[in-house]
Amino acid sequence: MEYKFLDENGTFCMDRPENNSDFYFPIAAENGIKSAVTPNWGGDSKWDQNHFLLEPVSVENLHNNRSSRNFWCQVKGIGNWSVTGVSAEANAAKFTDCQEESQMEAGYMWQTTRRSSKKYQLQSEVTMFAPEVDEDFSMEVMQVKVTNIGRICAFLTPVAAVPIYGRSADNIRDHRHVTSLLHRISTMDCGVEVTPTMSFDERGHQENYTTYFVCGVTGEGGKPKRFYPTLREFIGEGGNLERPRALIEKKEGHPAGASFTGEAFGGIKFEEICLEPGETASYTIFLGICKGSGTREEKKEKIAKIIEKYKTEKLVEEAFLKTKEKWKNQVNVHYHTGEETFDQFLNWVSFQPILRRIYGCSFLPHHDYGKGGRGWRDLWQDCLALLIMSPTQVRKMLLDNFGGVRIDGTNATIIGEKQGEFVADRNNITRVWMDHGVWPLLTTNLYLEQTGDFSILEEKVPYFKDKQIVRGTKTDEEWKEGETWQQTKNGEIYYGSVLEHLLIQHLTAFYEVGEHNEILLRGADWNDALDMASKRGESVAYTNAYAGNLKSLASIIRYEAKRTGKKQLLLWEEIERLLEDNKELYESVSDKKKCLDSYLEQGCHFISGKRKEFDAEDVATGLEHKADWMMEHIRKTEWVTDAKGNGWFNGYYDDHGRMVEGKMEQGVRMMLTSQVFSIMAGTATDEQVRAITKSADTYLFEKEIGGYRLNTDFKEVKMDLGRMFGFAYGEKENGAVFSHMAVMYANALYQRGFVEEGYKALKALEEQAMNPSVSHIYPGIPEYFNSDGKGLYHYLTGAASWYMLTVITQMFGVRGEKGALKIAPKLKKEQFDAKNEAKITLPFGGKNWEICLKNQFGAEYGTYQIKKAVWNQTECQLDGAESFLLTKEEIEQAPQNNVIEIWLS
Ligand code: G1P
Repeated sequence: MEYKFLDENGTFCMDRPENNSDFYFPIAAENGIKSAVTPNWGGDSKWDQNHFLLEPVSVENLHNNRSSRNFWCQVKGIGNWSVTGVSAEANAAKFTDCQEESQMEAGYMWQTTRRSSKKYQLQSEVTMFAPEVDEDFSMEVMQVKVTNIGRICAFLTPVAAVPIYGRSADNIRDHRHVTSLLHRISTMDCGVEVTPTMSFDERGHQENYTTYFVCGVTGEGGKPKRFYPTLREFIGEGGNLERPRALIEKKEGHPAGASFTGEAFGGIKFEEICLEPGETASYTIFLGICKGSGTREEKKEKIAKIIEKYKTEKLVEEAFLKTKEKWKNQVNVHYHTGEETFDQFLNWVSFQPILRRIYGCSFLPHHDYGKGGRGWRDLWQDCLALLIMSPTQVRKMLLDNFGGVRIDGTNATIIGEKQGEFVADRNNITRVWMDHGVWPLLTTNLYLEQTGDFSILEEKVPYFKDKQIVRGTKTDEEWKEGETWQQTKNGEIYYGSVLEHLLIQHLTAFYEVGEHNEILLRGADWNDALDMASKRGESVAYTNAYAGNLKSLASIIRYEAKRTGKKQLLLWEEIERLLEDNKELYESVSDKKKCLDSYLEQGCHFISGKRKEFDAEDVATGLEHKADWMMEHIRKTEWVTDAKGNGWFNGYYDDHGRMVEGKMEQGVRMMLTSQVFSIMAGTATDEQVRAITKSADTYLFEKEIGGYRLNTDFKEVKMDLGRMFGFAYGEKENGAVFSHMAVMYANALYQRGFVEEGYKALKALEEQAMNPSVSHIYPGIPEYFNSDGKGLYHYLTGAASWYMLTVITQMFGVRGEKGALKIAPKLKKEQFDAKNEAKITLPFGGKNWEICLKNQFGAEYGTYQIKKAVWNQTECQLDGAESFLLTKEEIEQAPQNNVIEIWLS
C-alpha cells in the first residue's frame, strides 16, 4: 500500500483505502461544520459538542458504517448498488477477487472516491467539501457522479441515504431514545429537515433553534421525487443500513410537505433515469446545520435559498474550486528538497496547525474527548506555526492569551470560545500543571525574533482572577462569580506589562521546589499522564526549561534596555520579594518556600497594585544567577549512568521522593523529555549532549517504529508517578514514539549544532508516517506511533507546529533575529536535489520570500560555507560565512516578492 502524489500541494491518491480500518480524513469549514470522513464516507460531522449532524463516532466504531453518507442506485433488473461501497453485498465481496475497484484522492479539506462495479456496470465518483456559507449556516457538499460503463442502457433510481443524528454528543448514551422523541421532521421540496423541539439537558432544558438537514438536487437542478425521512422506515423491521428494506422492497417513500417524528433520516429518492452507455448523471447532496434565532419556517426557507446557489453541477464545481484554492493559499510555506516524499509530508504537517485551530483537540475519531477547546500549552504552541504563516493576527492573540495568567503565576486552564476568554473552573478542580509557565515565553521569544516588535513587552494586560489562589492550594472565599480580572484594593482592574506577567510566571515557579530543590511536579508537566505525584513529585525536566527561559528573559531585558535607553522596569512592588538574588536562599528549600509564601500572601483577593521601579540590569543579573544556579544544581545532582558508563539526566522524582531514572532493579529507566530540556536550555554541556544522544540511541531509538520512544519500559505500574504506567507499554505517553517530544528533541539538538542527530530524529518520524502499510495513516504527523509502528491520533497534535518550525528555522535555517531575516542553513548533503539545490518559500516581515540554497559542489553540512548571496539579482555584502542577514530596514524597503540565492561552497 502506498500513496501517490498528484501535484506539489500534497494532493494524493491511494487504491482500496477501505481495506484499512482506521483511515479518517478531516473536512471542515472555517467557522462551521467539522467532519471526519472515512474512505466509505463514514465518520461524523458536527458544528460543536452540542450540535452533531451525524452520530458521533470514535475510532472503534468507524468500521460499523452506521453513519455512512450512503448513496444507492437501484438498478432495474440487477439490484441495489452503493456508490460509496457500503452494502451487505460490497461487504461480502471484500478481500475476495470480486471486491470492487476503488480509489480515493484527497487534498486540503476535500476528498474524492472512485469505485467501479463489474456486476452493475457502473462507475461512481463522489467528492466532498465544505464551502463557507455564513456564521449560522454550514454544510458538507457531496457531489455524486454515476457513469454507465456497460454496453446497454441502465435504468436506475438514485437514493441518497444518510442518518441524521441532530443533537448533542452527550445524548449518544444519555437519553438517546428520549431525545429522538424531540425530533420534529419534515420533508421539504429538496430534502429532509429535523428541528428538535428542545435541546435536552436535565439541568435545564433549552428551547432549540437549530435545524439539521439533508437535501439533494440533480446536476441540472432537478428536485427529488420522494423521501424516506425516518431511519425506522428506511431500514424496515429486521433490516439495516447495509441492507435496507425500503430499497429491497422498493418502497415508494413520502412526498414533500409531510411531518414525522423519531430518529431522522436523510433518505432522498430521485426520479428514475435511463443512463446510456458512457453517459454520466450527477447529483449533489447537502448535509448541514442551520443555527441562529429564526423560526423553523425561516430556516427552511434559508436552506432552500442557499441550495439554490449550488443547484447545478457547474455551480458546485465552481464552489469546489474556490474552497480548494482557499485552503491551498492558507498553506503559504513551500518546501523543495531532494526528497519529494519529505516535501509532501511537510505540506501536510504545515496544514495540521490549521486543523488544530479549527478542531481544537477534539472532534476526530481518535480525539473522542474534550469539547473542542484547547488546553493552555496547546494554545501557545499553536501560535508558533501561526507566527510563520499568518503573523499579523499573532500580536493580538498573544496579548489576549497573557490575560489568562493569574497574579500567582499559575493560569486559567479552561479556555473560553473566544480568544482571550478564560473560564473559572466551577468544579473546583485545582490542578496546576507545572510546565504551563514555560510555553508563553517560548512563543513570545519567537514572536520577538520574527518581528523585532519588542514594544509588546510593555503592553499592559490584566491578570485572570477566579476562586483559585496561592497556586491552586487555597480558595478565595471572597471571590464572586463574574470577577474575571484581578482587582486592586480600590476595585480597579490591575494591568501589568507582558514582561511582568512573564517574570511572575517564572519567578514563582523558581521558588516552588520539592525536597531535591527541583520544581514540584504538581498536577503534571507537559506529560499529562504524570499525574499521580502531586505531593513529593518533582520535574527536573521542566526545571531545565524554566532555567533556560530565565536566561532568555535576562537577555530580552538587557536588549530592551539598550534599545529604548530605559534603565528601569516598572513592576508590581511585591515582585521585589521574588527578585532577591542570594545564593544561600537558592540552596535552601525551606527559605525558598517562605519567600514564595510571603509573595503569594499579597495576592489572595485584592492586590495593592502599587508599582515600583527596578533597575533592569539588576533584574537581568538576578535572573541569570538563578538560572545558573538551577543548571549547576542539575548538573551536580541529576546525572545518572548505567553499568556501561552511558550517561543521561534524571528528569523526575516520584511521590515517595525517589529518583525515577537510572539503573534500577527492573532495568534501565530513561525518559526522553528529561533529555530534551537539558539540551534545549543549555544545562547539558556539549560533552553531555554527546553522551545523551548515545544513551538515547541505546535505550530509546527504534527506527522501525518511528525513532525515539518517550521512555523505556519501567515494568511497573508506578502508582506514585502517573497514569501513564497503567497504559500498555508502547502506547500514548508510556513509551510510544510520541511525535511532539521526539520533534522537540530534534529541535534542541539542531539548536545546539548537533545536526546529524537532530536529522535522524526528524527523518525517522517522517519515514514512519509516510509508510502507510505500517503507519496506517494518510500523509502527515500523528500524535504517536505505537510499538507496531502504527500512527494514532492523527492530525491534531502540537508536533506539527514544532516540526514545521524546526525545518524552517533550523534545517533551512531561515529565521528572524530581532526582526532581521537570518539565513543559516543546516541542510545535509542528501537533502539537496539533483541540481544540488534546495528551496523554501515563505512569508516574512509582510513580504514573500523564495530562498534558494545552491550547494554547488554537493558539500556535506559542516563543510560548506556561504560564499555568495544574491537578492533579487543583486549580489549582497556578506558579514561572515556562517549566515546571511537582511536587516529589518532592508526588509521594510523590499518589494513584495523576493528571491534570494545563497551560494554554498
Ligand atoms: C498531547 C496534548 C499535549 C500534551 C501531550 C502529552 O499532545 O495535546 O498538551 O502535552 O499530549 O501529554 P499532542 O497530541 O498535542 O502532541
